[in-house]
Amino acid sequence: MSKVFLCGDPHGEFDHILSAIDQWHPDAVLILGDLTPSHSLDEIFKGVKGTKIYWIPGNHDTDSDLIYDRLWRSSFAKHNLHGRVQDVCGVKVAGLGGVFRGQIWMPPAMPLYASPSLFIRKIGKSGMWRGGLPRRHRSTIFQSVYEKLKECKADILITHEAPSMHPKGFKALDDLAMKMGCKIIFHAHQHESKRYCPCNGLCARGIGLRGIIDLEGNVIVPAQVDPRELEAKVQSAPSPVRAQLRRTPASKFRRLNRFNRFNRFNRFSRKGWSNKSPKKERQG
Ligand SMILES: [Fe+2]
Repeated sequence: MSKVFLCGDPHGEFDHILSAIDQWHPDAVLILGDLTPSHSLDEIFKGVKGTKIYWIPGNHDTDSDLIYDRLWRSSFAKHNLHGRVQDVCGVKVAGLGGVFRGQIWMPPAMPLYASPSLFIRKIGKSGMWRGGLPRRHRSTIFQSVYEKLKECKADILITHEAPSMHPKGFKALDDLAMKMGCKIIFHAHQHESKRYCPCNGLCARGIGLRGIIDLEGNVIVPAQVDPRELEAKVQSAPSPVRAQLRRTPASKFRRLNRFNRFNRFNRFSRKGWSNKSPKKERQG
């Protein structure tokens, strides 16, 4: 069986992908959106030989003209699997990048604009970017792309958005995978490494932030903890725990030092503590 790796949101970091390619020599690597590269993909993957690189866009890949051009104006633009099926080393891979956006389509509601051309007609020339869709909506899922994909057959579906097994996921993606005959959906975006219970015979796997797994779900590179998730945990923790979490070794040392200084000169005053020296107390 061919060795295919799947990568969760790299968010500008590619060293772990390059190291995994160096170490394991996979036949192909699929990157599931939010690449937000700091250089052109040509530059990043210039040393890679014998491993095919494919990708789908994430919501952040259209954040700026620079990021957009580093992806879509590189030679890897033709390796974008969004809205199509590609034979990747014997595995039929269907790709659906981007996210659902309320201005266009937020399933299960009906779409406001079913296709890019309908949206362009609405916004007119003044709203266009480089003669077409506004940049932001180049990472938006349109129903027309979704329906076209639904007519194809594939072995696996890779998406940026999560399917319904995730609390913030979409059943529309389950329906798409099942209609296409896919046995499993791999998704990114939520920055959570998760193996879901199969639902109606459909398996799903979430790939965490900068994590890498293979087609069987084996972890090649463990995902990183999302800093937003860590901050949320700190915020929701009860206050003494929060203080504990925020306590750095340096601040701990300062606190201890201050305590010792006051104690040495016997001037530390606190409820339940005596200002008198132990000697005087014994005398009293
Ligand atoms: Fe994302």
